[in-house]
Amino acid sequence: MSTLGQTTVTAQIIAKAAELFGTPFYLYDEQTILNKCYDVLKMPNAFGLDVSYAMKANSNKALLQLITGLGLDLDASSLNEAKRAHLAGIPWSRIMLTSQEVPLGPARAELEEAMKKGLKYNACYLRQLELVADFAAVHGLALAMRIHPGVGAGESVTRNTGDKYSCFGIHLNDLEKALELATRKKVTIDVAHVHIGSGGDPQQWRENIDRQLGYVEKYFPNVHTVNLGGGFKEARMPDEKPADIRELGLYARRKFHEFYERTGRKLKMAIEPGTYIVANAGFLATGVLDKKSTGDDGFNFIIADGGMEANSRPLLYGSRHPFYVVSKSGRLLSSEFDLGELYPETDYRVVVGRCCESGDSQSLDAHGHIIPRLMANPELDDYLVIGGAGAYVSSMTLINYNSYLQPPEILLRTSGELQVIRAPQRLEQIVQNERPL
Ligand SMILES: Cc1ncc(COP(=O)(O)O)c(C=O)c1O
Repeated sequence: MSTLGQTTVTAQIIAKAAELFGTPFYLYDEQTILNKCYDVLKMPNAFGLDVSYAMKANSNKALLQLITGLGLDLDASSLNEAKRAHLAGIPWSRIMLTSQEVPLGPARAELEEAMKKGLKYNACYLRQLELVADFAAVHGLALAMRIHPGVGAGESVTRNTGDKYSCFGIHLNDLEKALELATRKKVTIDVAHVHIGSGGDPQQWRENIDRQLGYVEKYFPNVHTVNLGGGFKEARMPDEKPADIRELGLYARRKFHEFYERTGRKLKMAIEPGTYIVANAGFLATGVLDKKSTGDDGFNFIIADGGMEANSRPLLYGSRHPFYVVSKSGRLLSSEFDLGELYPETDYRVVVGRCCESGDSQSLDAHGHIIPRLMANPELDDYLVIGGAGAYVSSMTLINYNSYLQPPEILLRTSGELQVIRAPQRLEQIVQNERPL
């Protein structure tokens, strides 16, 4: 039986799901998500560990329930995300809000209500701090504070959230002003937070630990938890290497112990991975609509029935996702993880979607150039499956471009059952808020 990547999803399961639900669809593997959660929960630490799942990676209700059911809390990046988690049954006290929004207007009352019930507010701007400080002080609510360290690391420039090109967190230059404000308003900062970016070099993550502990020692006498953010590198492609969570944890443990020996303070560590939990648990399965060639000096194209509107990452970042070719009958014809078993007609091919947009390709580099990839030659109506599609794919789509419908989401349960966790969108839903002339 041929599985896709490290998951329990087989080519037969793809073919069966395609028959039941039609293409395109997202498919998630429950077992892989469970394994990843167990993995991060075991991360070595000195004086306790809080793990929150960064729900922006994939906010499907069933996945939030699955992940929080294992003991992870949630990192929400907008009030709506936090409300969505709450609607999924997750208590406010298990959610931290790290947002770029400024709490004004009607959302302000909702935020206060949620904070009174336990939502943790992470001040990421001076203005946010100014706006919530009085309320927090009156209700005796301690806040978190996100620090902009001036140094970051990401898989691409656009995923670095710590250096001078990004604007996340209270910059070191403003830190004393922010802390003076907190003292004046009598509000306690008990969590020091940082997130330097997504998928960067793990060495940068180690340096992030050192730096953050330095800030806590210098500026934050009341902090009991150091939140180091998410960003653990995950390997979507066979030539990539994931971050070694255990090794990072052992390093952190040593550093937190040294901090204790220096200061007498036992700090809890917090992390908030998104990608690492769900990226490799997900697939976008598409049907092959047609094949084309642009001549001897051109390319062999595969036209899939899902592209940029269902997975925007290649267009946004030049992200690579592994391709699998699956026959209609459920045979794995090629996998980039197993090029030893090449199908006879394996060749370099370019996967494109069906949008009227030349950038609608799954085979792009960071400059928008086409990079053909080795794969089998599918028959029409076979399946082209895009791996590494559990994080920032369904949740970050260019939804409804060309009026294509949002694909359904299916969860492969550990029991083998295929459970619909989001129904397919209907055309009426796209137009329901429009009004006639
Ligand atoms: C504040 C914060 N925490 C955690 C994450 C999760 O990052 P990743 O998915 O790379 O683990 C993000 C992602 O951008 C973030 O902005």
